[in-house]
Amino acid sequence: MSASKGPPFRFYGRRQGKKQSRRQNDLLAELLPRLTPDPDHLPDGDIWLEIGCGGGEHIVSQAAANPDVTLLGCEPFLEGVAKTLTEIEERDLHNVLLHGDDARPLLEAMPEACIARTFILFPDPWPKTRHNKRRFINPENLDRLARVIRPGAGLRIGTDHMDYARWILRHLLDHPAFEWTAERADDWRQSPADHFETRYERKARDKGDRPVFFEFVRRA
Ligand SMILES: C[S@@+](CC[C@H](N)C(=O)[O-])C[C@H]1O[C@@H](n2cnc3c(N)ncnc32)[C@H](O)[C@@H]1O
Repeated sequence: MSASKGPPFRFYGRRQGKKQSRRQNDLLAELLPRLTPDPDHLPDGDIWLEIGCGGGEHIVSQAAANPDVTLLGCEPFLEGVAKTLTEIEERDLHNVLLHGDDARPLLEAMPEACIARTFILFPDPWPKTRHNKRRFINPENLDRLARVIRPGAGLRIGTDHMDYARWILRHLLDHPAFEWTAERADDWRQSPADHFETRYERKARDKGDRPVFFEFVRRA
């Protein structure tokens, strides 16, 4: 991947969790390099991007349901990457690319308007006010997304954290490149018909939380 020209990105989340099994280490050593996208040579056809794909529940389900699309996941947490690789191998999927790292340098290296759909599902809420500036949804990242998302393409953001939900709406409504498509409350209170539940979402629902899903379109 082309190196980022600026200073390295500061990353606040976890990169390491439990120790990986031998099989997971093999997948990280052998399969991950084969699935790592080269931003200068992306595949032809539609590419759907998922930022923070966690343990891969959503990305592998979308890949299985949409075999004509390439799913491109970004996840810096090694344990999540290892779980996703295991699912990709077990489900014999051939339409997933995996960037096992921070999405931001990849977004900067990808060509303009190359992404046909984007998912950001349950981004870290960083609930303390002094940590809010770590939230992935911020003006700089929206500029990065606006550059790579094709005009007319959708951006779906899900969260169970109501303060972050208000933050997301405020930032997206303030950004000239994005338009919120909701017409009625059910458009954001209900899970979208083509959504697949994530691990984080399942835990939130088990606690009694009610996630919301915002759908935006990249303006022309
Ligand atoms: C709360 S978890 C949700 C994971 C998954 N989407 C789910 O719903 O189960 C947020 C994820 O975003 C990832 N993340 C945070 N910052 C990121 C970044 N700059 N680029 C890519 N992923 C990031 C974290 O490593 C973490 O796995």
